[in-house]
Amino acid sequence: MQRLTNKQIILGITGGIAAYKSAELTRLLKSAGADVRVVMTPSATEFITPLTLQALSGNPVHLHLLNAEAEAGMGHIELAKWADMVLIAPASANFMARLASGQGDDLLTTLCLATEAPICLAPAMNQAMWRDNGTQNNTATLTKRDVKLFGPGVGEQACGDNGPGRMLEPEEIANHAAEQFESGALTGKTVFITAGPTREPLDPVRYISNHSSGKMGYALAEAAIEAGAKVKLISGPVNLPAPARLECISVESAQDMLEAAQTDLALCDIFIAAAAVADYRPTAISEHKIKKGSEEIMELHLVKNPDIVATVAASSPKPFTVGFAAETRDILDYARSKLARKNLDLIIANDVSRSDIGFNSDENAVTVVSHSGAETLPQTSKRKLATLLIDKIAAQYHHKA
Ligand code: C5P
Repeated sequence: MQRLTNKQIILGITGGIAAYKSAELTRLLKSAGADVRVVMTPSATEFITPLTLQALSGNPVHLHLLNAEAEAGMGHIELAKWADMVLIAPASANFMARLASGQGDDLLTTLCLATEAPICLAPAMNQAMWRDNGTQNNTATLTKRDVKLFGPGVGEQACGDNGPGRMLEPEEIANHAAEQFESGALTGKTVFITAGPTREPLDPVRYISNHSSGKMGYALAEAAIEAGAKVKLISGPVNLPAPARLECISVESAQDMLEAAQTDLALCDIFIAAAAVADYRPTAISEHKIKKGSEEIMELHLVKNPDIVATVAASSPKPFTVGFAAETRDILDYARSKLARKNLDLIIANDVSRSDIGFNSDENAVTVVSHSGAETLPQTSKRKLATLLIDKIAAQYHHKA
């Protein structure tokens, strides 16, 4: 079920006694890492309350097509675009008929018409209704339109009959849903990424920092999510919106960043240190604003910050650890010595003396240095480079594992 990590699933619930099982299905999809938004038909609400599904999904439940308040939040077209999959469980005979005839008379059918995501149904109905020619014709029509059917199962039914039409168990539905997604290079892996600068306070209004934009770290976080990873992004102060589908922890100083990196570190499979951490911080933070004195020269006393990536690499168990080396000369030599000194698995070296790549620019060119060799990736956008880098990191990680 790891393939469900980060997947955005609309769970449609239609009216049927099996709707009570949709609560467990919601829980299973959530615990497999999916983000679940529930859409209910009016008759579904007769069987299970929206409140239950809201609590289990952690998202508001969508009930109406033409509701100004709901449309102001996430309208039906946005929902249709948001979805990586529309899964309808239970799917009643009536719903299947409306879907087969291409109707858009409520939120769920409209969503199905509007979405480009795969649509999967877990039918649930009385065995005679399932066998009825009308339902069978509708099933054939839907299958021809590439709608996937999970089940139905055969067995005892709520009405006392025995035969085909039982909704599959929630575990089976969740497994079928997971099988619809391809496995990514980092499916099911947990990746921590540090990004941006740190700020080292001098007094309540001043700090020491650097020009890191955080763009490379954020692009790596997005690429890791696309590859199926669960991502914790530990970010210094940047002007970038937090990407969706990840946990973003905002920090200021190197010490805050270290603390966030060490929290739940045992869960981390791959640690990528893309942050430009301040090497030193003031030995003391003045409680009040430091006043201008008469002297021409002011001395600041600084103390070394902890090395976050080296601390992570020294921990046990050690995640696969990737660092960056921003250099202005002798790039490969410095990168190799850093790889060894910090006990890293991989280091990504870049030339920050050039203004067209590196720190604040949108492009970068890097050399990936491992213990067995080096590979240069030519200049491209930080987004494209991030995808290439995540592929390389994943390949090296799997090779080592
Ligand atoms: O030693 P240097 O700062 O050049 O090393 C760069 C690499 O080490 C980067 O991956 C950076 O994120 C990481 N680093 C760190 N903590 C520090 C300094 C650097 O994690 N205090």
